[in-house]
Amino acid sequence: MSGTVRAPAVALVCVDCGATDQDLSGRCSVCEGMVEARYGPVEAVLQPGDTDSLERYWDLLPIPDRSLCRIAIEPTPTVLLCELDGIPVYAKVEGVLPTNSTKDRLIAVALPLMLARGVERFVLSSTGNTAAAYAWGLQFYPELSARAFVSTDVPTRQLGPPNPALEIVRVEGDYVTAGQRARGELAPGEVSEGGFFNLGRREGAKLAYLEAFDDVERMGGRVDTVVQAVASGLGIVAAARAAEQSVAVSRWGRSPRFFCAQQTSCAPMVRAWRSAESGGNARLTEPDPDGLASAILLGDPFSSFDYVARAARESGGGFVDVTSAEIATALQRHSHEVPLGDSAAVALSSVYRLWEQGDLRGSEGVLVALTGGPGR
Ligand SMILES: Cc1ncc(COP(=O)(O)O)c(C=O)c1O
Ligand SMILES: [Zn+2]
Repeated sequence: MSGTVRAPAVALVCVDCGATDQDLSGRCSVCEGMVEARYGPVEAVLQPGDTDSLERYWDLLPIPDRSLCRIAIEPTPTVLLCELDGIPVYAKVEGVLPTNSTKDRLIAVALPLMLARGVERFVLSSTGNTAAAYAWGLQFYPELSARAFVSTDVPTRQLGPPNPALEIVRVEGDYVTAGQRARGELAPGEVSEGGFFNLGRREGAKLAYLEAFDDVERMGGRVDTVVQAVASGLGIVAAARAAEQSVAVSRWGRSPRFFCAQQTSCAPMVRAWRSAESGGNARLTEPDPDGLASAILLGDPFSSFDYVARAARESGGGFVDVTSAEIATALQRHSHEVPLGDSAAVALSSVYRLWEQGDLRGSEGVLVALTGGPGR
């Protein structure tokens, strides 16, 4: 499919060139930049007993028609996990979602948006969790089908129960190679899903943070520091958007700092950040990504890095990497308390690392996104 669409309900604007035309994934059709949705003033606050996050934050979503939404996302728990020198560490527990990762929210928003734009078949690449979420979600959208390019390194069980509506294409090589194949092998009638640039995905990811900020406010706390594990950094960019739109954050009067967490064995964003900090511009890809947290093994994140680095920089946050030993310690400490996958443990161990480095001094509260449960 080709052509462009204009969104009816909210203003969708490219952050790079200001254009208001998008391709069918929601990416700027003029410069291929990232498109953001601009909303008027919205006062949406999570209420106890809410059963659908999309419904609660409906006025902060770019979907033109409520009837296109067929997947309800029940708000996930925000828990006070521990205290470090009296600093509360709140955890957003995403492992309880239907396929045990935060990706379920992303596709719950991406699918209706694609339907609204007239997409019939889309193509993506995945380290496993997004493919599993789409395999599950597509059962509610029989009008849509997809192909997912996935490295042969990803075990089949990672992809969840097979769904004939989602064809899996196995790729020799890493996630970067899978992405190149996905973009390069579009068949007639197929649309590129867009990955990081998919507007629906980012707006879906935003909901986790809107919920968490509201929950912490209700618990009488405040969040001034957010930590999430990053591959493309979509989650962190979404968190920054949530902070701008959150009623709780506006009450706190100050937006949190955003910290992006990677594992030392695959930390191209961390290295690029450090280079920039010391006045350089080195962007070294990781040719052979390896590490415990397989969902975040992205060796070349440089199509999205600038957006992610901007969110970190403007907030006063940064980037942090942790070793396998630190990840294992976090798993040992907390996996009996919350569903905790390896990527989530990267974020959680990064909280401890930030604390040890003195980066949490004076903090009133940390929010860590536990983006997946065991196996995610
Ligand atoms: C469980 C989990 N956490 C974190 C991420 C990081 O994703 P991103 O940086 O693209 O938001 C992923 C991506 O696949 C994931 O599956
Ligand atoms: Zn543009």
